[in-house]
Amino acid sequence: MQNAPFLAEIKRETARRRTFAIISHPDAGKTTLTEKLLLFGGAIDMAGAIKAKKDGRHATSDWMAIERERGISVTSSVMNFDFNGYAINLLDTPGHQDFSEDTYRVLTAADSALMVIDSAKGVEVQTKKLMDVCRLRDTPIITFINKLDRDGRSPLELLDDIEQSLGIEAAPLSWPIGMGKEFKGVYDLRQAHLRFFDPQAGKGTRPRETVVIQGLEDPSLAELLGNDSAADLRRDVELLDGAGYPFVMEHYLTGKQTPVFFGSAINNFGVKELLEAVVDLAPGPRPRTANLREVSPLEEQFSGLVFKIQANMDAAHRDRIAFVRICSGQFNRGMKLRHHRLGKDIKTSSAILFMAQERCGVEEAWPGDIIGLPNHGTLNVGDTLTTGEPLRFLGIPHFAPEHFRRVYLKNPFKAKQLEKGLTQLSEEGAIQFFRPVNGGAMLLGAVGALQFEVIAQRLASEYAVDIDLLGTTFNAARWLFAESKEQLDKLTREHSDALVTDAAGHLVMLFTSAWMMERTIELWKAIRFEATRECA
Ligand code: G4P
Repeated sequence: MQNAPFLAEIKRETARRRTFAIISHPDAGKTTLTEKLLLFGGAIDMAGAIKAKKDGRHATSDWMAIERERGISVTSSVMNFDFNGYAINLLDTPGHQDFSEDTYRVLTAADSALMVIDSAKGVEVQTKKLMDVCRLRDTPIITFINKLDRDGRSPLELLDDIEQSLGIEAAPLSWPIGMGKEFKGVYDLRQAHLRFFDPQAGKGTRPRETVVIQGLEDPSLAELLGNDSAADLRRDVELLDGAGYPFVMEHYLTGKQTPVFFGSAINNFGVKELLEAVVDLAPGPRPRTANLREVSPLEEQFSGLVFKIQANMDAAHRDRIAFVRICSGQFNRGMKLRHHRLGKDIKTSSAILFMAQERCGVEEAWPGDIIGLPNHGTLNVGDTLTTGEPLRFLGIPHFAPEHFRRVYLKNPFKAKQLEKGLTQLSEEGAIQFFRPVNGGAMLLGAVGALQFEVIAQRLASEYAVDIDLLGTTFNAARWLFAESKEQLDKLTREHSDALVTDAAGHLVMLFTSAWMMERTIELWKAIRFEATRECA
């Protein structure tokens, strides 16, 4: 029997958690939108802080030089803030397709996603890839169509694009009036309000309240918009009533439909409504599947899942932080947690919470929250922590790499450092490495080729190891599992050139073409060739 006051408290705390990831194709406005969301949460009090960070003066999300050089966000970060009585955990994701594995892991820690689309560009390549990742978990997605202050595609065209290119129903919950120089505001289809756009209001600091009118029949509509725009809006809304998808909560929650909002992040227009929609519509923490059973967030027992490791965030301190998503129970600073993979208890007195511009010690936290646990290599991606029961949460896999390089040391005396660096970077999930069963140079495997560049740079800057990376003819990999060891031994004898072991010692086969892979799978029926392997 759960104790009643605790149950009431955990229900209350869990119900006010919103943990969501923000995803977009680079340049759609993710950073700008994040900044405005943080402004509303009071997490930052000055616009421009995130931008300054992009230029390298702050270190919140873009930790690495390579990110600044390329203007992309490689690593993910977490920000916690309050809004309207809700505790929001906002998870940033890498914008670049080569880091989709990292994005997938972040999505395992989020209960929903917010997708940003540029109104002039519509759905872009990376939007599609991110959508594929979301689909793997049926993540509920809210869409924000950004940059309405610029000329872009028509709203109907954009909705059609989302439906055709992403294969998801698009249900507009707001509707723009004009765009570019003619952008006049947004009509809130849920509340029948018009928010009038004032380009001067949202620049810089917190926005002024915008003008709100009641319903399409409000006589001030024509005064504010002019007769033509008012008539256009009435016609559009009528059209939508007949042709558009009506918003259906269940379709959104199961990832079949995305509610769509329009606005302009840089002008801070439509952002507050978006945040209100997130707290209103987006799901809070839900039960999660573990090896033994499903775990409800409302259980008294604490459980948490390590979904990301970030090492050396602060070069001066050489730290290594495990990001833990709390799945059930209450976290209290200092509580002892069981680390089941290692079969030992770990202390949590130095647990931290991530605010926009700082980290601070965390006294208590609840399901949905993300806490950081500094550690020296004991925690890996996929690890589960509980107050006792030997649970293991599922759903954080390694993905089979599609790009491979052989690693050569420039200075052969650095072999130990290389081993250490690659081990740590692979535990972080930044790269996978493989040892050929026949010996010889190690191989690095990545889902996206840009990962190699990041690894070479990080090995040099964090471990003082310089490497050369040489191409190989391999372009696919599968983990091998079999009931009988004999079969694996036979395959090893016949194909030793293509066999490697991963960091955990699992046997992996590499292929030079999809055709080769299919043929091998066909021939070796007693062996399972898997494209993913659970991390822990
Ligand atoms: P990202 O994180 O998704 O890569 O996008 P980011 O926010 O960095 O925005 C990309 C560019 O789009 C930036 O311009 C940003 O100012 C601009 N932008 C974002 N939201 C809006 C909007 O609502 N309207 C308009 N017109 N532009 C917007 P930049 O020129 O690359 O950078 P900057 O020189 O403005 O800082």
